[in-house]
Amino acid sequence: MEKKIILSGIQPSGVPTLGNYIGALRNWKLLQSDDKFCYYCVANMHALTVRQDAQELRSRSMGMAALLIACGIDPKVSPLFIQSDVVQHAQLNWVLACNTYMGELNRMTQFKDKSAKHADNINAGLFTYPVLMAGDILLYQADLVPVGHDQKQHVELARNIAIRFNNAYGEIFKVPEPYIPKLGGRVMSLTDPEKKMSKSDANPNSYISILDDPAVITKKFKRAVTDSEGRIAYEEGRHGVNNLLSIYCAVTGMTMEDAVASFPEGSGYGLLKKTVADAVIAEIEPVQNEYKRILADRGELEAIVKRGAEQASEVAEKTIDLVYKKVGLR
Ligand code: TRP
Repeated sequence: MEKKIILSGIQPSGVPTLGNYIGALRNWKLLQSDDKFCYYCVANMHALTVRQDAQELRSRSMGMAALLIACGIDPKVSPLFIQSDVVQHAQLNWVLACNTYMGELNRMTQFKDKSAKHADNINAGLFTYPVLMAGDILLYQADLVPVGHDQKQHVELARNIAIRFNNAYGEIFKVPEPYIPKLGGRVMSLTDPEKKMSKSDANPNSYISILDDPAVITKKFKRAVTDSEGRIAYEEGRHGVNNLLSIYCAVTGMTMEDAVASFPEGSGYGLLKKTVADAVIAEIEPVQNEYKRILADRGELEAIVKRGAEQASEVAEKTIDLVYKKVGLR
């Protein structure tokens, strides 16, 4: 059987939140199965679209690679690499840029959001960011691209670029599809549960970083916004309680019905918060320990991403060779 090819990427910007873990990272581990071949990329070139300190970027890129392994990505099974180590990403980028319209990039909602946020640095890279991302995907002939909702538009652009290129030059690229996990998709802010949990939130109590100390996790859940109903139930409009229950289900694998029923009649939010915090800690404490262990052996980590880049570039080079010949660069 032909294996489905999966590619995903994550920027080395900040420590992922519990939301990133539940919505993305945890699924990356689960995708590694007999009928799939997965590539995982630390997108450090994408991170340059905002100003970076060189030393910080280097260390956060390695930190992200360590964290992905700690989250269960097995680099022996799935090539794990740093984007800039595979030069073909930069090579494909230019050819794709010449096959993408300004109008398409103008419609990208993330560009509009980010240029509003970084009004002092609206650089051309921020604008062409989705082209670089399309290259990440198309280089490996990916079938499926696991992403959150916010990246779906970028994957759709990658599809359109692939189709356009294929129409002009023949069947070169696999046309990829976004792959959005249904389960535990959206984790909301703990302090404003109608907003998505985000690591760029100014209030650190609004999110759980996956490297937060257990004591900090307990404290943040204790402070989480609920409501004045005082009943543990999943009900329309009760965003705070619903979010806590959803997190509980996501980390324990329980159904919502069982989760609600596991709290004795008359239990208060104190018990709910403590129970959810404990379940989250039980899930992520082993990840944290593993992360520390991997980071401690810097030489081994460097060898892993070097091997990942070699494997990735072997495949990427085949695509580049085809593309460069087709367009007349080779
Ligand atoms: N742009 C993605 C994000 O910020 C990260 C990313 C880079 C990516 N290249 C990718 C995701 C390729 C999927 C496929 O979340």
